Amino acid sequence: MNRKIIYNEENSLLQLGDLAVKNNWKKLFFVTGKKSFESTGAKKKILDQFLEDQVIFFNDFEVNPKLNDVYKGIDIFSASKADVIVSIGGGTAIDMAKLIDSLVCIDGNPEDYATGKLKISRVAVPHVAVPTTSGSGSEATHFAVVYVDGSKYSMASDLLLPSYVILDPNLTLSLPPYITAYTAMDALCQAMESFWSVGSTEESSGYSLKAIQLVLENIKEAVNSPNINNRKALQEAGNLGGKAINLTKTTAAHALSYFLTSEFNLPHGHSVGLMFGWVFSQNSMITDSTCNDPRGRDFVFSRLKELADFFKAESLENFPAVFYKLMEEIGLKVDAVNLDHDTVGRLFKSVNIERLGNNPVQVDLTDINGFIDFFEK
Ligand SMILES: [Fe+2]
Repeated sequence: MNRKIIYNEENSLLQLGDLAVKNNWKKLFFVTGKKSFESTGAKKKILDQFLEDQVIFFNDFEVNPKLNDVYKGIDIFSASKADVIVSIGGGTAIDMAKLIDSLVCIDGNPEDYATGKLKISRVAVPHVAVPTTSGSGSEATHFAVVYVDGSKYSMASDLLLPSYVILDPNLTLSLPPYITAYTAMDALCQAMESFWSVGSTEESSGYSLKAIQLVLENIKEAVNSPNINNRKALQEAGNLGGKAINLTKTTAAHALSYFLTSEFNLPHGHSVGLMFGWVFSQNSMITDSTCNDPRGRDFVFSRLKELADFFKAESLENFPAVFYKLMEEIGLKVDAVNLDHDTVGRLFKSVNIERLGNNPVQVDLTDINGFIDFFEK
């Protein structure tokens, strides 16, 4: 079930029909974005390949999966007797499909599984993931984000890894510039955080380096003059970033970003980018006593240096300025939110301390004024 097979070429969503025949899938349950399902051209591609009574569509959920929405999906999926789940959308649709597929077959209280108290032991049917953005990489991870009573959890199990992934770059051709920019920024930061993370391995670093290169080579062009080639490159980068964090998880920039998204409704990739520059500056101040990575301070330095070189930054100190310049150039405003003393205090308190252990350096979450000064410079 977990052997992941990837389709990665133009219009590869049109291969779903053959895949269904091969696997004898008679009824397909689609978890999709709302507007994006139609605007990306995905809906037409589905209706061209399947009869109306073969398909059931579910899109009645908010951005960032909530457990109550998962229950709605489970009811419709159970009644449908579908033999496969196909998610077509951004990270939310893909995570929603993972949650439905796994939580439909548990005994007991779903909250215990969503919050990580209990582990799932199986999923109901195969899951085909079809991303229509190029950022979250959720199609390549064994995690599913889920909100329970307003708190964010990440369910983790190898069983959540989709069985098939269809990367169809044509689905991303119509993405507006801002969404292109912040989803690519998510992919970039995921790859870079994975690269400097305490959990990085040779394999994860390989995925990271390729993803970083692909984003940097294509991001400006994809925002300003998209074409099938730069879309394909970014989609691949998103997938590689997902593969990297699937092995390592993310670090401090992601941990800090969630507050900005919930407090200011700032899209995930934009929030992560904002925090990334500051976390880089924190990481570059590493000492032996603040180093979290058993490979030592010099190892972390060499990783930071490698990242700075990608951006042609003259020094580690100069990196945040170069990085934020790129953000501005692709339309991600660095002053998008008002970071006053009270807000930063709450931001620091919001951070999941456990996640910070994967950051190469112990981040100082007491110096509120230092944080504000950094962004005012
Ligand atoms: Fe992310």
